[in-house]
Amino acid sequence: MARAIDLDIVGQTIVNLAAVRPATYLGKGKVEELAEIVAATEATLVIMDCALSPVQQRNLEKAFGAKIIDRTGLILEIFGRRARTREGGLQVELAHLAYQKSRLVRSWTHLERQRGGFGFLGGPGETQIETDRRLIEERMAKIEVDLLKVKNTRAVNRKRRSDVPFPVVALVGYTNAGKSTLFNRLTEAEVVADDMLFATLDPTLRLLKLPHRGKTVLSDTVGFISDLPTMLVSSFRATLEEVTSADLILHVRDISHGDSAEQNADVTSILSDLGIDASDHHRLVEVWNKVDLLDDERHAEVMAGAGHKPLDGRPVVISAMTGEGLDELLSVIERRLAEGRDVFTIALDPVDGKGLHWLYEHTETIDRFDDDTGTVHLTVRVAPERVEQLRRAFPQGVATQVARAGLTTGTDREPWSPMTRMAGGVA
Ligand code: GTP
Repeated sequence: MARAIDLDIVGQTIVNLAAVRPATYLGKGKVEELAEIVAATEATLVIMDCALSPVQQRNLEKAFGAKIIDRTGLILEIFGRRARTREGGLQVELAHLAYQKSRLVRSWTHLERQRGGFGFLGGPGETQIETDRRLIEERMAKIEVDLLKVKNTRAVNRKRRSDVPFPVVALVGYTNAGKSTLFNRLTEAEVVADDMLFATLDPTLRLLKLPHRGKTVLSDTVGFISDLPTMLVSSFRATLEEVTSADLILHVRDISHGDSAEQNADVTSILSDLGIDASDHHRLVEVWNKVDLLDDERHAEVMAGAGHKPLDGRPVVISAMTGEGLDELLSVIERRLAEGRDVFTIALDPVDGKGLHWLYEHTETIDRFDDDTGTVHLTVRVAPERVEQLRRAFPQGVATQVARAGLTTGTDREPWSPMTRMAGGVA
């Protein structure tokens, strides 16, 4: 986790504790021993994988001559670095303030400076800042108001997005699994005009083009961490809303990581808390990332391991770094998304510009064919909740329902029945 925020680790040790000391957490001998290591390695920060009280933190800082942070402190740092939306940033700041307030301990200016800081704890260079409870509370109240505003905007944006016919695919995974790398890699090709809508609203959403002209909205989410302190779980629930409402979830796993199985168990359990069954293959696809880091033998084992899984739940093996397996991943996304959506062909009178416009706005157009008479034959894929609307909009002219779960591409245009929309307005 420390590496996740680019800290340079100069030493680590496991300490066996017979009992926790109220003043220093560790026993006297251990404190001295560690202080020597800190001095010898010129470490400026010590991270302890436990929960320290403010007094313990202060005393240890004095003894070590270095900043100390505990598990929650480190997680807050990671989240602070990764927060990409305004809402995420505010949530981190709020959690951070709540943490500070509960402890009223001076900040770790070392990290503040690296990150640019939130600015509320004083400028860089001030190493001994006592945070004032009243200031913290004022700041927290202001952030809560801001968060409300951001949430309202977000709800509006979500509503606007739900007017867009594209399904949403969410990336989830343990922190450092490679979600953002994959997100950038998949969406780097070109920034399409529609994309601007998403890019400006929220940098964690981007439009993704699928192989057969389909489009989907790809959503990057905050990385999961095991044993997330309860205080933080509630703070970050909102950022996970995107996951629960997604049409398809890609669980990105770092398959080269020694703890890959444990991380998988952690993510599965967090998803299950959110009401998502990780074994539901219609909803979730496992993506095994970082295969480029495996030696030949391990690579073969991983491929065999993936190959042994039943076809509909088979993981997609990729490297977000080298691009290996990404074409396969895109086809899998396309196939899975198509499963839940019906495909219709609709024939439109050439003068029915309004009807055409409606179809382009509200359905996912996967094929268009203009015949000799000028009639436009559109093949569209429709979300289940829009099927009724489609039937109402085109009462005479709808439409042959083409195989569900199948992909209709430019080459397998059959069957369509040339019916012309005769009457009826757009619903
Ligand atoms: P969080 O934001 O913490 O949730 O992390 P993330 O899942 O978004 O991971 P990110 O994309 O930031 O990648 C983490 C590290 O893994 C980065 O240093 C990437 O360069 C590296 N990485 C990602 N994908 C690959 C891959 O396929 N191969 C290799 N070798 N490295 C990768």
